[in-house]
Amino acid sequence: TPVTEATAVKAATLPDAQTVTEVKHWTDRLFSFRVTRPQTLRFRSGEFVMIGLLGDNGKPLLRAYSIASPAWDDELEFYSIKVQDGPLTSRLQHIQPGDQIILRPKPVGTLVHDALLPGKRLWLFATGTGFAPFASLLREPQTYEDYDEVIVTHTCREVAELEYGRQLIDLIRKDEMLAELIGEGFADKIRYYPTTTREQSPKMGRITTLLEDGTAFRDLGIDGGITPETDRAMVCGSLAFNHDIKAILEEFGLREGANSEPAEFVVEKAFVG
Ligand code: A2P
Repeated sequence: TPVTEATAVKAATLPDAQTVTEVKHWTDRLFSFRVTRPQTLRFRSGEFVMIGLLGDNGKPLLRAYSIASPAWDDELEFYSIKVQDGPLTSRLQHIQPGDQIILRPKPVGTLVHDALLPGKRLWLFATGTGFAPFASLLREPQTYEDYDEVIVTHTCREVAELEYGRQLIDLIRKDEMLAELIGEGFADKIRYYPTTTREQSPKMGRITTLLEDGTAFRDLGIDGGITPETDRAMVCGSLAFNHDIKAILEEFGLREGANSEPAEFVVEKAFVG
């Protein structure tokens, strides 16, 4: 019938459409979802793409989102905040399996292994939804091939906001494919260091404070702190967080790297709003 045809045409002409396959709500402010992956999309674990929906004016409303799934995955995963009056996330939070979103297949970003010089210990520093690129990198075999130790810190206001990361790390530690690829011992390389700032939990405080006063090093049993000889870091959180942790890493003697000039740490702003 004409109606069905018109609907079909409309769906097919949505630019760069991908289909939602799964949605999980973690808190009233956080959700994750998976979509189909364009056949031609190649990316490096840790990169981001522009995704979104068609706006009321008929134009795409897009924001930068880190891909939370690894480069080898058939689907793409994203981890998002829900902002009730946010132009995109007020609507995106209601997507269901079978719905379509727009995904521009042009991955970019600095949180990639190529932007770091070889090292022994990799720190992944996240706040809030800044965990997303690390969800990708922690499922990437190269992470464990390149480093003896991978320390993941995640600071959130409340305990429930840690859950996406916590469950993911639990699953990764038991991942048989990763064990087969890089050896059973890979799980022992992961050190997980979650902290909360506004709700009671076993470890309270901002990671910045815990690094500055030495608590994090004592807790993790690291003598001598962070050094440019052995340590590499990736940072993803709010602007203020990125700024503060960059200053701390520079005090330890690490330099910021980029794809064109690899060094000891890299930084990216988490999607907000
Ligand atoms: P705090 O509760 O002390 O502000 P947000 O939800 O505002 O993005 O924050 C996520 C987490 O990041 C919160 O636990 C917050 O702590 C922490 N945070 C915010 N700004 C900074 C910063 N400049 N340095 C370290 N942690 C920060």
